Amino acid sequence: MMAGHYHLLIRNGICVLPWGEVAADVGVRNGRIAGIGALAAATADEVIDARHLHVLPGLIDPHVHLREPGDASVETIATGTKAAVLGGLTAVFDMPNTAPAVTDAQTLAWKQDFVARTAWCDMGLYVGATKANVGALAALETAAGACAIKVFAGSSTGDLLVEDDASLERVMRAGRRRIAYHSEDEYRLQARRTLFAAGAPYATHMLWRDVECAFLGTRRIVALARATGRPAHLLHVSTAEELNYITDHRDLCTVEVLVNHLTQVAPDAYERLGGYAVMNPPLRDRRHLEAAWAAVRDGTVDTVGSDHAPHSRAAKERPWPACAAGLTGVQTLVPVMLDHVNAGRLSLPRLVDLLCAGPARVYGAVGKGRLAAGYDADVTLVDLRAVRRIEESWIVSPCGWTPFAGMRVTGWPVATILRGRAVMRDDAVTGAPRGRLVQFR
Ligand code: DOR
Ligand code: ZN
Repeated sequence: MMAGHYHLLIRNGICVLPWGEVAADVGVRNGRIAGIGALAAATADEVIDARHLHVLPGLIDPHVHLREPGDASVETIATGTKAAVLGGLTAVFDMPNTAPAVTDAQTLAWKQDFVARTAWCDMGLYVGATKANVGALAALETAAGACAIKVFAGSSTGDLLVEDDASLERVMRAGRRRIAYHSEDEYRLQARRTLFAAGAPYATHMLWRDVECAFLGTRRIVALARATGRPAHLLHVSTAEELNYITDHRDLCTVEVLVNHLTQVAPDAYERLGGYAVMNPPLRDRRHLEAAWAAVRDGTVDTVGSDHAPHSRAAKERPWPACAAGLTGVQTLVPVMLDHVNAGRLSLPRLVDLLCAGPARVYGAVGKGRLAAGYDADVTLVDLRAVRRIEESWIVSPCGWTPFAGMRVTGWPVATILRGRAVMRDDAVTGAPRGRLVQFR
């Protein structure tokens, strides 16, 4: 039995370790995990009793849009990371399609400063590629806190776009780390837009940005990644066709699917939610949802994200296609995924693989993603038996809405511990914003 003194002891929980679920105590010293095992003889400044709880490595949402700099009336880094820790996350990776976009050292420095001053959880920052900043990308991708270069090969919210093969290849030949792609095909998007009249039902969104838009775009990226040898992370893969195709390209490609595509299905979602179901790539029919779950089960999927993309209610309620695309989700990712665990759709260790080890592996996050001695003491405590209803009143993003309002879930995060300090307990934040930039290799 290990004795000694710890700053924090998490006692009596079931730990999800990389090698399995183990009943163990976790001891923390100086913000890092210092012991895992039977620590009954140890002393500590602070003890958290995790009886009846599962002790998970700090959960990571690798895909959020926190909008700063931009429109503080829908989201900021302060509010979005508060939502993250209330939802059981210890790190989020934030997209660059802000206003202005993060495409140069100056804007990145500006954002690094927001993180240092206001973030409740740790953060990684994407840098947007443009046709004009190719020469700067090699330096930008290794800047402090940079998790990856992000390429919008198809247009979405904001004006970031690199759509043609020659420009994409130039981006791929600049730098060496894995690039993250929004891969919908811009040419097919533009061509099909004219087929549908303004004011058409919201479900038109998935007919416009159809399966072939996604599949064609992904084939284009994979072919160029193959030609250049540059590893690709395919964000929010949304079709059975892409998932099947990618299995032949796993030497180069990693895969993200979104909680939305695992949970919401057409036509039901469009009928219930109207504009609040519109996102890119779109929610699709059940065949694709089933394919996404099959890809979770067979290991095709590396990471699951929320693609938290807040917009004002007014923007979501405009008629199609003026309606803004994007759904909130950073606060609900963990509850919804725990509910899927409870329903038997994935195991708790697989959830940890997708929300901890997966993001750490794909992006090269240092000291994150597993409960192991010497790693950051980022921990999420979850109560798998808690039955709760997701209420809009619980949402702290200023935009104030969630597409999961009213959903009854089994499984809830009850504490979020960031580098050894609780930042959330029982649905309330504790302490002060202490988030830092994640280090990437
Ligand atoms: O639905 C989306 N919303 N897809 C994206 O690619 C961007 C995001 C946003 O920023 O609103
Ligand atoms: Zn996104």
